Amino acid sequence: MPYVLMKAFEEVPARFDLWMHWLTLGRLRRIRREIAATVLPGARVLELGCGTGNLAILLAHKGVSVVTVDRSPEMVEFARANITVAEVTDLVELRRLNILEIEDVLLAHQFDRVISVLTFSEMSETEVDCALLQCRRLLRPEGELVIVDEVRLEVALLRSLVALIKFPLRLATYLVLQASDLKSSTLAKKILYYVIELPLMLLTFLVVPPPTAPLRDLSGRLSRAGFRVTMNRLFLGGTLGFVRAEAA
Ligand SMILES: C[S@@+](CC[C@H](N)C(=O)[O-])C[C@H]1O[C@@H](n2cnc3c(N)ncnc32)[C@H](O)[C@@H]1O
Repeated sequence: MPYVLMKAFEEVPARFDLWMHWLTLGRLRRIRREIAATVLPGARVLELGCGTGNLAILLAHKGVSVVTVDRSPEMVEFARANITVAEVTDLVELRRLNILEIEDVLLAHQFDRVISVLTFSEMSETEVDCALLQCRRLLRPEGELVIVDEVRLEVALLRSLVALIKFPLRLATYLVLQASDLKSSTLAKKILYYVIELPLMLLTFLVVPPPTAPLRDLSGRLSRAGFRVTMNRLFLGGTLGFVRAEAA
């Protein structure tokens, strides 16, 4: 599963949903619908990492009241437009916010459900642990946390095989994105690109860690943050996890 391409797609919100749909072989849409189907009208939901606003809109159409946050100004702008077109601005409160700030900013709120889809894998392990504790405190005692995300494969051999596919894919995407303006450049610029910029970029690629990392030991992390896992399903060859948890 080339989730490593995610960051590149996020830079073009208009195409993001379509890319995600194909990359997850349609699974993501089905999971979103499944999540929405289990939330009752009138419930209060906090969504972490709204992206283009799909899930928030789906929930609002069911009469669910949603506070949704995202740190990316481009995504927030795009989601705001989508939410307006869907005519659900009265039910969706959209905030440009880092997940690590939710407890401070939303202190006065209590949610029936906190939902995060493909977002925690964009955070460091320490950040995920910190965010989980905040989720726990923002949930009502009987509330539920729902996480859908890339998870680390348990079998080492499979992990190596996936890495073998991911690495060249990530490199190819990185180079294609960097060279996107090259076609229309002058010959001098092209020479400079191949002689100086390309070797430097390759070096950067090798030293900078990938923008997304599969979640490790999600059940353990949830239990340390005060949750009890009630459902843990795997999709797409074990690379995509769908977890439900409640306060322990
Ligand atoms: C891969 S997208 C998924 C978007 C959406 N949940 C979906 O399923 O289509 C991840 C989103 O999380 C946001 N994000 C990542 N880390 C975040 C953080 N620490 N605080 C707020 N938003 C974050 C990104 O800006 C991006 O919009």
